[in-house]
Amino acid sequence: MIEQLNDRLFHMSNPHTSFILHVMQNGQIEQIYYGKPLRGLTDEEIDYLVAEQNKSAGTVKFFEDDSNFTLTDHPQAYPVYGTSDFKEGAIELSSNQAPYYTDFRFVEATTKKGKARNLDCPTTYGDKEESETLSLRLIDQERQLELILHYTLFCDSTAIVQSQTLTNQSKTDLQIHRMLSGVLNLSTKAYDFTHFSGAWLKERHEKKRPLEQGIVSIGSLKGASSHQHNPFIRLDHQQSTLDHGEVYGLNLVYSGNFIAQAEVDEWDKTRVMIGIHPSQFRWTLAPEDSFTTPEAVLMYSDAGTNGLAQHFTHFIENHLIDRKWRDTPRPIVFNNWEATYFDFTEEKLLSLATIGKHLGMECFVLDDGWFGKRNNDRSSLGDWTVDKQKFPTGLASFANKLKNMGLQFGMWFEPEMISPDSQLLKQHPDWVVKHPYSRISVGRGQYVLDFSNPDVVAGIYEQMAAIIEETNLTYIKWDMNRNITEAYSAYLEKQAIHQQEFFHRYVQGVYALYGKLLTAYPDLLIEGCAGGGGRYDLGILFYSPQIWPSDNSDGVERLSILSGTLAGYPLSSFSNHVSASPNHQVLRETSLAFRQDVAMFGPLGYELDLLALTDEEKQQISERIAFYKAHRHLLTHGKFVQILPNRPYDNEICWGVFSHDRSEAIIGFYQKMARANPAAKAYLPFPDYLKKDRYYQINGQETVSGNLLKNVGLKKPRLFTGVNHATYQLAGDCQSFIYHIVERKDTK
Ligand code: DGJ
Repeated sequence: MIEQLNDRLFHMSNPHTSFILHVMQNGQIEQIYYGKPLRGLTDEEIDYLVAEQNKSAGTVKFFEDDSNFTLTDHPQAYPVYGTSDFKEGAIELSSNQAPYYTDFRFVEATTKKGKARNLDCPTTYGDKEESETLSLRLIDQERQLELILHYTLFCDSTAIVQSQTLTNQSKTDLQIHRMLSGVLNLSTKAYDFTHFSGAWLKERHEKKRPLEQGIVSIGSLKGASSHQHNPFIRLDHQQSTLDHGEVYGLNLVYSGNFIAQAEVDEWDKTRVMIGIHPSQFRWTLAPEDSFTTPEAVLMYSDAGTNGLAQHFTHFIENHLIDRKWRDTPRPIVFNNWEATYFDFTEEKLLSLATIGKHLGMECFVLDDGWFGKRNNDRSSLGDWTVDKQKFPTGLASFANKLKNMGLQFGMWFEPEMISPDSQLLKQHPDWVVKHPYSRISVGRGQYVLDFSNPDVVAGIYEQMAAIIEETNLTYIKWDMNRNITEAYSAYLEKQAIHQQEFFHRYVQGVYALYGKLLTAYPDLLIEGCAGGGGRYDLGILFYSPQIWPSDNSDGVERLSILSGTLAGYPLSSFSNHVSASPNHQVLRETSLAFRQDVAMFGPLGYELDLLALTDEEKQQISERIAFYKAHRHLLTHGKFVQILPNRPYDNEICWGVFSHDRSEAIIGFYQKMARANPAAKAYLPFPDYLKKDRYYQINGQETVSGNLLKNVGLKKPRLFTGVNHATYQLAGDCQSFIYHIVERKDTK
């Protein structure tokens, strides 16, 4: 609900949150509240919120009618630098080499119910009963610019979605150097800046640091959101915990270069902002042209980091990803990559498929190496035609054989890339991202295609569509294995478009290809991937309901990657595979039981040589798959809860999924390293997601009330102590224990 409380105050509220904007005396907008719902505000309460305290902390005054007014005192909704505030602003413009010190003043407000889902560009969506957008129109009279600040509130979420549209109403071109998407003002610095960072094979590990005067920022300049940093950030109140206290999250619906930063000023006030990274970005706005920023999603929780994660999950599954994926069971995948790499024949793949099918797998995903003459990673990208050596009778016949076995068929593509030896490069040498310098950097032996050029997008679409038609494909794994260097486009040069528009236009090209594919083949399940988890973001999730989170599927490593990722993304988005032991990335040996206990949370897959399995291992896999199928909805769409914190130094990890009706839970407990002589009869803290007045059975044995679970805890597995040989349940390194907790219908 959006209320205009008087001619200067806008209150967006629902039963979960309130967000309040105020038109300041100089006509600019400030953000005066975001947090718990404040419904039915009285006039006195409004005065209390708006009244200024500690006026004129800043040294430079900026308002003709009030000699004490200074912007630096105010939590500006869309901050500008250069008048009476010296912090970094959200927008920076120039024209004819001269900087603009903008002064956007409020003119009018409009509201609109409903927000469409449009495949051209990733945005959040909601129907008319669910969402309402407040648009505040601001004008900078002197420079003849219009800026519209858009804020959307959804009925079932604490999310506030922000974006902005700038229109050049003057007669001269102007340059946008910075135009960020999301702004959050906090009145103190009592927060930890938490981000999810790492590298290839160790994506999205939680890292946090207390805010202090100055700027802390993370971001990417790699052309993709990146392995190194993720656009999801959190501000955790220093008194918050997993389940209690105030936490804010920000994320960007975008897959390219981004920045997320928090600046604490000399009065300990915090300004958090997120948006397209201003470095390497410069956009020319001709007269009458507009530029709209990608959306930023701000989220609030007063129930700790678990509460925030659940808000994000609900929001992303209902207002970002196509809703049909909420109810469509995700297939259990067999992926041949780590089973074969490039070394396969159709015959070998069919024997793998036969075993996979027998064990209960549902979709065969043919990974890299099926096209051109690609026997290693140095060849054929861009030539999306079948390798007849590997598939003598063609792909359609291979697809039919799988179909006749009762398997779905998925295929790997790396649409944005091109190999130096490809036919495509011979035909279109100007389709490559390449500076006129003689130098061109190679990554994994490949170049990047110029997706800012619509002809390139159309050409790749045609090749992919031909394969989809030929094979009746239902699943695509869309990979992206290198980042962009020496960014430059021959196409932009021809169009006389500034080269620093390239990165944004490239991302728009990626979205255009996604949009074309899903318009033509709406039921395709496209799994996102970028050399593992190098593009795990809301832009990709808009099109791809699940993403390959990392090339590292070692069970121990996945503990950190899963917890870090699910702090801001849904369990249903996290493709989780069981791979071989020793693991191919860290050479660690772990039991199949441990690997399956980690991988069964999220959409499940197997990626190991099934021909090398022992009978006992096959038995273990088919039993686990049967269990997974019986509880698939809970394991992909249940409420995911981090029960013990998962920081790099934590040895014991515990998480769980709870059914929404509170009747069932599956809990995973993991021990990285055995410790000598651990405590006997210990309890794990148990979160409040079951019914306290009902009884539950654990693994078909012990019965316990919801009340005891909540107030006493869940008995920890009995760890090996050196003397309890007859009774221990877990011993040794890399061990796990699964609790299946089910409400007993026969008890009160
Ligand atoms: C990187 C991906 O993350 C892997 O899963 C695999 O698809 C390879 N690329 C194939 O080249």
